[in-house]
Amino acid sequence: MTEPLDALITAARSGRGVTELERGLWLVTDPTETERLLASKGTSTVRSARRTGFTSWGPNGLDTWMAVRRAAHPFLTASRLTSAIPVIAEQAERAVSGWPSPGVVDVRDETVSLISAVNVRHLLGEPSEALSALVERELVLAGRARRPFPLASRRLRHAQRATYSAIRQHIRSRPSPTGLQAVLTDHGFGEHTVTLALRTMLLSSHHVPATALAWALHELSTHPDVQESARAEATAHPEPTADLPLCRAVIRETLRLHPPVWQLRRQLTAPTRGLPTGTTLLFSPYLNHRDPNSYPEPSGFRPQRWGPGFHPAPGAYLPFALGPRTCPASQLALTQLTVILAAVLKNHRLTPHRDPAPTFDALHAPRHLRLRVLPA
Ligand code: HEM
Repeated sequence: MTEPLDALITAARSGRGVTELERGLWLVTDPTETERLLASKGTSTVRSARRTGFTSWGPNGLDTWMAVRRAAHPFLTASRLTSAIPVIAEQAERAVSGWPSPGVVDVRDETVSLISAVNVRHLLGEPSEALSALVERELVLAGRARRPFPLASRRLRHAQRATYSAIRQHIRSRPSPTGLQAVLTDHGFGEHTVTLALRTMLLSSHHVPATALAWALHELSTHPDVQESARAEATAHPEPTADLPLCRAVIRETLRLHPPVWQLRRQLTAPTRGLPTGTTLLFSPYLNHRDPNSYPEPSGFRPQRWGPGFHPAPGAYLPFALGPRTCPASQLALTQLTVILAAVLKNHRLTPHRDPAPTFDALHAPRHLRLRVLPA
């Protein structure tokens, strides 16, 4: 499905980087304006109207969430992650060694189950297949509930309740908390807030990074020369590490060409740069990442562009968004995806089997992607 994207491309071509799509709705594609507006204090995230008692953070919810973000920050940064790398590598190794080789893999199913296992383990401090399954069910139902079927909304509420209750049960049964629960409890947050925080993190860390991994595997399967070089780099390091410049560049370039979060919405809470309060701003990492003024050969998959001296402007590279509501786990995501990619390449050779149908829905994802897998 490319219609929403086609509409944005047409609009972006007709404007000069800041284009009025309809009354009160502006598309921002100029990198400098993207950075200024997204990072501005006068922009707020547009909240979903579909909130229930279970998912509500209460009247001062935004302040509480921002405090949770600050408390969680050290837990999600690179220095803290160093100790997590062997665990991530071990989980990835176990999962990918089960792939049929030679055989064909359904890339969505494999990447979702692998990424979810890694993130549940990291966030809770221990694995839980039951929670992975509940998160998957809730997200699938949330996708269906975007369509106007009353039954879909009811099922979604049940699924939200089930996820919330399972996380609260997990918290209650841990007198000595681990993972992010321990960090947040030490900061004095109560049970309801810790439950909501873990739930937000688990939902956010499920489909989005798995989609990025799926795109990376697709790009490597269609660029065998890059795949060979990345495999050589990975196999030269028998010990688990994220210090793999080419594998990391593959992830960065994949996130440039295929940002899973391909559009972002914000609302102005104060007049900003000539636009009135209440204006809705639409940003598209996908469009900004393919701007020829920022990237030579913007449609080409060229991980080698990410050499030591290459630093695109923040508004030209924003797979994790920018500003106060930027992804709090960008370092965790880059590290885990690099480590997992290395594990895949050490075990398997990837070749195309069924081409993806790119979606531009809630996420930009490679629907129907299948890869032929051979022993490395
Ligand atoms: C490749 C992987 C990832 C990408 C591309 C990504 C991208 C993003 C983007 C673009 C946003 C902003 C969305 C918006 O404003 O509408 C976001 C928010 C968020 N992400 Fe990520 N993310 C990734 C992985 C993760 C992981 C692994 C976690 C948790 C462990 C995570 C947790 C969150 C949370 C909690 C938010 C909401 C922040 C807020 O609203 O204040 N993300 N992410």
